Amino acid sequence: MKAPGLSSRTRLDRFISSHAGVTRGAVRALLASGRIEVNGRAASEINQVVDQFSHITLDGQVLQDRAAIYLMLNKPRGVVSATRDEKHRTVIDLLDANTGNDLHIAGRLDFNSTGLLLLTNDGRWSRRLASAHNPVEKVYRVTVEHALTEHYIEAFAQGMYFPYENITTRPVTLTILSDYSAELRLTEGRYHQIKRMFGRFNNKVLTLHRIAIGNVSLDPRLTAGQYRPLTQIEVDGVF
Ligand code: URA
Repeated sequence: MKAPGLSSRTRLDRFISSHAGVTRGAVRALLASGRIEVNGRAASEINQVVDQFSHITLDGQVLQDRAAIYLMLNKPRGVVSATRDEKHRTVIDLLDANTGNDLHIAGRLDFNSTGLLLLTNDGRWSRRLASAHNPVEKVYRVTVEHALTEHYIEAFAQGMYFPYENITTRPVTLTILSDYSAELRLTEGRYHQIKRMFGRFNNKVLTLHRIAIGNVSLDPRLTAGQYRPLTQIEVDGVF
């Protein structure tokens, strides 16, 4: 489920040379005679940068036609955030046939966690979303077994040391909503992070539901298991 690499950006002459089986010199001639189009416009520069989603034709023949896909899914409980699994249903199994072929998950949720999951075939986008240099806030609603107290707020804000990874968690904003429920805002996603943080208080997480990633909120019209494409505003504005 590894995201595709950044190397999907390449120079147009290199792309044409390898996809049409012609020399770079021949590509110059093709460009000069206007026979190559990128996204519907005649291309003229050999060093124009194209990517995996550029629509590229030579004499009207399509060399590349791959649409970028960005989906939000309301993940139900009991489904694995993976593209394949031997035992359990995966989030890809929830998508219409062929929709999920090419997709990977931008930020997993645990088996029993629910809510907003983003899927895409755009590795650059998902890497940017996961980048530590550009932390994107994620918002969760949680219910727990034992009553919450003010101590949680400070402990979560201070960060907790996890010896296994030898890291201290970044500050988490915890807002108590009721005795047994809270909203959490965090900018990282360590393995089982929220459950482990409540584990320090011997308090079991009963439900964990993600409601937002950056500027994208879970669409309330999506029932568990449903999904929809992101709008262009959501794609561009998530960071
Ligand atoms: N933290 C967890 O413990 N589980 C999740 O699914 C997400 C964050």
